[in-house]
Amino acid sequence: MSKLSLRDLNVANKRVLLRVDFNVPINDKNEIVDDTRIVEALPTIRHLISHGAKVILMAHFGRPKGTVNLKYSLAPVAAHLKKLLAKEQATVAFSAECIGSAAEKAVAAMKAGEVLLLENVRFHSEEEKNDAAFAKALASLGDLYVNDAFGAAHRAHASTAGIAAHLSQAAMGFLMEKEVRYLYEELANPKRPFLVILGGSKVSDKIGVIEALMKKADTFLIGGAMAYTFFKALGIETALSRVEADKLDLAREILAKARERGIKFLLPLDCIATQEIKAEATTKNIPLSKESGIPSGWEGVDIGLATRELYAKEIAQAGTILWNGPVGIFEISDFAGGTRALAEALAANRNALTIIGGGDSVTAVKQFGLASKMSFISTGGGASLELLEGKELPGISALTEK
Ligand code: ADP
Ligand code: 3PG
Ligand code: MG
Repeated sequence: MSKLSLRDLNVANKRVLLRVDFNVPINDKNEIVDDTRIVEALPTIRHLISHGAKVILMAHFGRPKGTVNLKYSLAPVAAHLKKLLAKEQATVAFSAECIGSAAEKAVAAMKAGEVLLLENVRFHSEEEKNDAAFAKALASLGDLYVNDAFGAAHRAHASTAGIAAHLSQAAMGFLMEKEVRYLYEELANPKRPFLVILGGSKVSDKIGVIEALMKKADTFLIGGAMAYTFFKALGIETALSRVEADKLDLAREILAKARERGIKFLLPLDCIATQEIKAEATTKNIPLSKESGIPSGWEGVDIGLATRELYAKEIAQAGTILWNGPVGIFEISDFAGGTRALAEALAANRNALTIIGGGDSVTAVKQFGLASKMSFISTGGGASLELLEGKELPGISALTEK
């Protein structure tokens, strides 16, 4: 991906339109519960401030479906950003309109080194349609374009893609570069063994990732609900466990392909099962084999103890580890033990490059307080999956070639 970098731009006194992904989780009191995405955009913002740019931030927030809905206003995010930039004493203004005369006026009032956050671009239905006139209206506010919104790079929207054609230079921000480095470049020539941990709810969500990574990885550790589709395909009783009944052939094909290519493709040896998905429910550790499946009325909710041990050994020997998808229903602490054990095993391997991609896996690692022990944690959900699948991301393709 030989795209222009922020480093290549001369930004002094220029109006720089910076697309960021400030789509952060909030609670019912409208408080930001995890500001990682904002914090991760700070290196780019600080670079622009210190190099004397006028920093115009564009972002989306939630899915307001093309109408103004103040529940999805970015105003609280502007206030939070101001706090994060307190050391820089940066002026952080907010424009309640992202295009038109109010936005133009706000931009005209900016001095070098100041920051202006524009209101949610998704208040206009043209944003998600990648409407050319809307993209042009946004572009008219600036001189240069920088995209740091990795989490939204899989969307071909006006502020992530269409806008680039209307400005002389469109470059990658530092976060975008970092994401591409860990989820793409580092995996092209990984330190071996290259191990992939795949979990989560559905095989069908991850099929693209499995196929793309089977060309590169040495070992797969399977967990999560996904495992039960494989077990069912192998004729092992899964009882109430979540299975994708229409994906059994696909599961058999994946297993056959792995065997053909000499890939170590490990399924759990055992699982934690329960009769009720709730805290403090009774659980038992059940071995999984042709002879011993899950008893009727029970459901597999986590990898079992023998599996944790086996997987931890594989993790300890790996050179590169990519993890996508929790291996159990980690949202309920009684079913989080397997996911936690794997996170701890990753943290303990100080020689491996450890990369966590995907929304819920990242949430789990953060919940265990182990985020700082990983080499890289992606800020993208869907975008990281698409990049791992080898798909082209519109938010990157639209940028200027180096
Ligand atoms: P990611 O966001 O990391 O890509 P997914 O969205 O694919 O992960 O899957 C996450 C979800 O999978 C979690 O909500 C978790 O509760 C669920 N899950 C994991 N294991 C199981 C299981 N055994 N049964 C049902 N759901 C599971
Ligand atoms: C995300 O939260 O994954 C990104 O910000 C993209 O949001 P979207 O799925 O609403 O397009
Ligand atoms: Mg998810």
